[in-house]
Amino acid sequence: MPIGIIGGTGFSQLPGFDLHLEEVTTAFGAVTVLRGSIAQIAYQANIAALKGLGCTHILATNAVGGIRADIEPGHLVVPDQFLDFTKQRPLTLSEGTDEEIPHIDVTNPYCSYLRRLIAEQAGEAGLVVHQDVVYVCTEGPRFETPAEIQMFAQLGGDVVGMTGVPEVVLAREAEICYASVGVVTNYAAGITGETLTTDEVRELMDQLRPDLLALLSEAITRLDANADCLCPFK
Ligand code: HPA
Repeated sequence: MPIGIIGGTGFSQLPGFDLHLEEVTTAFGAVTVLRGSIAQIAYQANIAALKGLGCTHILATNAVGGIRADIEPGHLVVPDQFLDFTKQRPLTLSEGTDEEIPHIDVTNPYCSYLRRLIAEQAGEAGLVVHQDVVYVCTEGPRFETPAEIQMFAQLGGDVVGMTGVPEVVLAREAEICYASVGVVTNYAAGITGETLTTDEVRELMDQLRPDLLALLSEAITRLDANADCLCPFK
């Protein structure tokens, strides 16, 4: 049962799993599976590669800033909706092909089964996890202004990150069940009055990585590929 994980630096190992890096060539270029970087993600190639490898499910991780006061650094979030504020990213896997441009249904963008699975595992591991969270995706690489964060809060955004879209959309287009777990590394800009640094994001990611890897390992072990979910292609 092939399952894809899209993680950042430090995610090339999972406790109890014998993983290796593998180069995969796709119509969108070659990628090394399980390789990722915050600043430049090969969104289309990553999803196309995992699809090509037969993945039916993807668990992704990302760092987020907390917009809501109760979503604190060190907590985890499992988004069920997103707000897309990206500006110049690939939009579809059909780009550059002869295929008709698809209009993908994203009523339930994240797989309901995978979301529940991750949240249950996190709860069992004693981690604080927020469900039904609205993920705001910005273009980056800069952090947001406090005014932008206030706008996102008014629009219903709960956390903000830079990497989750269009990954979730492309996974849906590829008909792969997808969910992501966000690590809250900081309060979003202006929430506490402190300035933001990449170092604090890295530090918290480093701190929480062992818990996150254990959580992913456990979720994969328990994953039932035939479980019911709301994904329209199931
Ligand atoms: N904003 C955007 N992306 C992020 C943040 C943030 O505050 N923290 C971690 N990734």
